[in-house]
Amino acid sequence: MSAPRRPDCAVELDGEAVPAVAGEPVAVSLFAAGVRVLSHSAKYHRPRSFFCLSGHCGACLMRVDGEPNVRACRAPAREGLKVERQNAFPSGKLDLLAATDWLFPRGMDHHTMFTHPRPVNALMQKVVHQLGGLGRLPDRSDPPLGEVHGERVSVDVAIVGGGPAGLSAALACAGEGRRIALFDEGDRAGGSLLCHPAHGPDAGRALADRAAEAGVAIHEGASAFAWYPEDEGGLLAVDDRGTLTRVFARRFVYATGGFDVNALFADNDRPGIFAARAVGALLVRHRVLAGQRPLVLGDSPYAAALADALGAAGCEVTRVDGVSERAVAARGHAWVSALEIEGPAGLRRVKCDAVAVATTPAPASDLPRQHGVRVALSEAAGGFACVVDERGATSVPGVFACGDVCGYRGVDGARAHGEAVGRAVAASLDEER
Ligand code: FES
Repeated sequence: MSAPRRPDCAVELDGEAVPAVAGEPVAVSLFAAGVRVLSHSAKYHRPRSFFCLSGHCGACLMRVDGEPNVRACRAPAREGLKVERQNAFPSGKLDLLAATDWLFPRGMDHHTMFTHPRPVNALMQKVVHQLGGLGRLPDRSDPPLGEVHGERVSVDVAIVGGGPAGLSAALACAGEGRRIALFDEGDRAGGSLLCHPAHGPDAGRALADRAAEAGVAIHEGASAFAWYPEDEGGLLAVDDRGTLTRVFARRFVYATGGFDVNALFADNDRPGIFAARAVGALLVRHRVLAGQRPLVLGDSPYAAALADALGAAGCEVTRVDGVSERAVAARGHAWVSALEIEGPAGLRRVKCDAVAVATTPAPASDLPRQHGVRVALSEAAGGFACVVDERGATSVPGVFACGDVCGYRGVDGARAHGEAVGRAVAASLDEER
């Protein structure tokens, strides 16, 4: 690892000061300080840490500065930030409601609790709310996003996603006076480049800097969340760091990448089981080790690169390819302690203190689908991938897609696809002149 991580502030977790690095995700600060359980699941109150570290899985919901259900992997740490574990009784450290998981190992149907006389049902309703709740209401009420004074952005090309595909597409179609805006939901553009051991976070920054120098307006921390077809030919709604931004464009390019997916085995939700890219982001971007004895599960090139990097950082790494051998169960309660592996030689138990799961990311095609883009379910693509032609054009005129949202390609493949699609977008604009 490069320069060591240096905490420079303190956040307050359930009233206790925890050292943190200003600006890094609070989930990372807490983990680096030894805090293992960040939240508890609804209903069964199973302990949760983080899984994806990219805002997509919902494992890390905490109460932050009085606001419930904030993704701790997206909330930046700062001096005095108040963070609370929610949905626990009597406290986040000792959640007695976790007994539900022990008492109902085969699952619990809430409806059976409402078969009593009305007064008992009223009580049961409170119990069920407490079990299934996701925190108390906010301490203060902010105006809904729709009431925040909105910005209007009109450009030639709007690109959603600032990973290798989106940035490469932006670079390839920049120039000739084209107005290009790129929206990335991360606090820093770069996407999967930021967590790749073979590239490192500087590669993502360099690509973003080149795009900015070429005239691309890069909006970081800007989450595109809906397409409204009825307004002036259609607008893309973006939550740009709390400001509702309405984006109008002649061309839209979706480079939304893929969501990390867990592998299927018993108790795969135990804390300490992470998406491989989260382990990569911890290592490459935040200089934090997920564990001293990590197990890397998967046979992809990314899994191999991650295992090598963890080994080079001094970890005792075990690799399980998930093909000739497969995980069948996790052991441990509040933290994973071993993985049971089934292979040609039978069942074996591998001790570990972290698991990095490297599966094929599922295409993040929700927003393009809402835009009307045709998608197709594909096992190889890992989910519903956008259907595009050789230029990256989708089924909707003027809408393009590139990178992993069209089926997993990896960093280099996504860059190449982004470049090709960016050139096609530029050509399609030129044809209109
Ligand atoms: S949403 Fe925060 S870890 Fe997945």
